[in-house]
Amino acid sequence: MEADRPAKRILVTSALPYANGPIHIGHLVEYIQTDIHVRFLRLLGKDVIYCCADDTHGTPISIKAEQLGIRPEELIAQTQKEHLEDFSSFHISFDSYYSTNSAENQEYANKIFGELKQKGLIYQKEVENFYDEKEHRFLPDRYVKGECPKCGAKDQYGDVCEACGSTHKPTDLINPYSVLSKTKPIRKKSMHYFFRLSALSEKLDHWLRGNSKLQPEIVNYVGNWIKEGLQDWDISRDGPYFGFRIPGEDDKYFYVWLDAPIGYISSTQHWCRQHGLDAEEHYWKSRDSRIIHFIGKDIMYFHFLFWPAMLMESGFNLPDNLVVHGFLTVNGEKMSKSRGTFLTAKDFLRRADPEFLRYYYAGNLSHSINDIDLNFQDLQERINTELVANVANFFYRVLSFTHQNFQGTTGKVKDTKTATAWSALFGQVKEAFQSFEYREAVKRIMHLSTLGNRYFQEKEPWKLIKEDREETLSVLTLCVNLVKDLTISLKPILPVFTAAIEKQLNLKELTWKDLDFRLEGHRLGTPKIILRPTEIIFDDIKEDKKDKQDKKDRQDKKHSQDKKHKQDKTDDASGDFGLLNLKVAEVLEAKEHPDADRLLVLQIDLGEEQRQLVAGIRKHYRPEELVGRHIVIVANLKEATLRGKKSQGMLLAGQEGEKLVLVEAPKSRPGDQVTVPGITPNQEEITIDDFSTVKILALDGRVLWDGKELRTGTEPLRCQGIARSRIG
Ligand code: 2FM
Ligand code: ZN
Repeated sequence: MEADRPAKRILVTSALPYANGPIHIGHLVEYIQTDIHVRFLRLLGKDVIYCCADDTHGTPISIKAEQLGIRPEELIAQTQKEHLEDFSSFHISFDSYYSTNSAENQEYANKIFGELKQKGLIYQKEVENFYDEKEHRFLPDRYVKGECPKCGAKDQYGDVCEACGSTHKPTDLINPYSVLSKTKPIRKKSMHYFFRLSALSEKLDHWLRGNSKLQPEIVNYVGNWIKEGLQDWDISRDGPYFGFRIPGEDDKYFYVWLDAPIGYISSTQHWCRQHGLDAEEHYWKSRDSRIIHFIGKDIMYFHFLFWPAMLMESGFNLPDNLVVHGFLTVNGEKMSKSRGTFLTAKDFLRRADPEFLRYYYAGNLSHSINDIDLNFQDLQERINTELVANVANFFYRVLSFTHQNFQGTTGKVKDTKTATAWSALFGQVKEAFQSFEYREAVKRIMHLSTLGNRYFQEKEPWKLIKEDREETLSVLTLCVNLVKDLTISLKPILPVFTAAIEKQLNLKELTWKDLDFRLEGHRLGTPKIILRPTEIIFDDIKEDKKDKQDKKDRQDKKHSQDKKHKQDKTDDASGDFGLLNLKVAEVLEAKEHPDADRLLVLQIDLGEEQRQLVAGIRKHYRPEELVGRHIVIVANLKEATLRGKKSQGMLLAGQEGEKLVLVEAPKSRPGDQVTVPGITPNQEEITIDDFSTVKILALDGRVLWDGKELRTGTEPLRCQGIARSRIG
């Protein structure tokens, strides 16, 4: 089979952004997702190029240029410059970034059109289109708006519905109007070119189902489109239109979606020419190449039907894989200008390090079309707890200790058992990257860093060095190797941070081959702290009216509750919430304690690690009721043994008389940090006595400290059904 041939060369693409607007954080999901894959392939030593371009044709571009009073050519030149700046700030490592308004693209468009025509797959047919009598011109899809014929969504363009993703003809729109004159357009006939997509249903279905790499949910989706019957595709537009003129015509042009994907080929050719190669010979018609497209779920129709159909009938290779991602939501909702959540790449850069966004997206991306959510509080917490407190802190501890006590030179690794166990975990990181499961990869990397921290802590090199220098050096050497390996595995996500660590390790351009525990007798560079806890400023991101009303309601409610519990506050001094490190944990397993009839023994997932908890809740919950719940635990509590069973932390619950209710955060993920505004979680261990000085209350189902609501990045904590109790 095709897929079994080893690929000598890999071509990776991201969808081509339109040249009529800035790159925003929604676009960046895809470019970051693709760039991580490309960097990962490079790290494996693969021969890979990453090609993209600006998508420059079509009506939105001419509309924008008209608005600005410039020619479309000027607009697209200016936009390309800005796009390139943004991509480079976010470290998107294109090998070729070209334009669909190029000689190469026109050449390939004509060539493919010619091939399809020769095969009898192009025909002409008179069609009725909208015509604006006031403006004396035909109205291409984007000049007409109306209600979607499929789902009824208002104000949709004439080609594709942004609400339901279906494609249609402008004349299918309900209550259409001209974007130019706002008048109702009339219908007028003209000759158009059609691509006989309907003739290729079977071939497309066969290709779709024969490709095991495609996401099953998508094969299903597209398979249904095919089953419903494919319509032939109108690939021409009447002038005036900004695009390529159809050969042999005076005033007819290729529809933008015909030449847009061809931009993948012309961008490849642009790179190939600079390297003495040829795009067809080396990539698009070669038996030794692989093509991987990354796209968003809104453009599946074009990439799973039109594009492969064009390729298969004109002698070009079909994509080997198409990776489809979902949309970005911000704080759980669609990005919105009025809410201030529509952030351009430049807006983000003004506030935070671009690598923070790379890290955050990686930590949320999986091989699925589910939408991914950006929550700014969550972003900040993840950077501070994962990147800073876990990873960067470990790196600095290890490197600076080695520097101070051994002149920065490593010795030999003796603990091969631990090294072997960690190597196996890195194998899982690799697998996760390979299968586009970045969230899993990040989770595993964090877990390895946690293990490293724990190892360092348990070995107590600062004490050990007084007794056994050689043993201390071997502990450090293992840890330095882990620092190196973590650096390698983070390279696809954090190119700049990892380059700085490479320098501190005195190692250049590490690759996946260097991932081992064999760096011995090596002289390190000078250690430096490069990441510190940060505060990222997103407080100008406004809430919409509804959020404001909700907030006001909450505040009013809080006000009356505050009055109610003012007494408690003045009676007992509330301890310092900053003593605690509260985290969300998922219950994986619950069993009765063999030697205590009040206790249950829980196995929990804390995101980057698993732990065991012993909890006195057996009278209130049956074990099977607990599995899968997202509870909240004190994660920095000193380990204890309860009736012979280790307990690493304590869960939170409220109790009212006989009733005991767990504190829960069902929408949050295992490992999510629980905070109150303005207080940083404690990384130090505390005792149960310390904990009992902190007065957390359950009030009408909410969980409060000092009148402030406890929450994760995604939701406030809940202690459902408890009117008023102390949390313990
Ligand atoms: O949807 C879009 O933003 C298009 N500009 C994507 C084009 S991808 C490729 F086909 F050119
Ligand atoms: Zn629709």
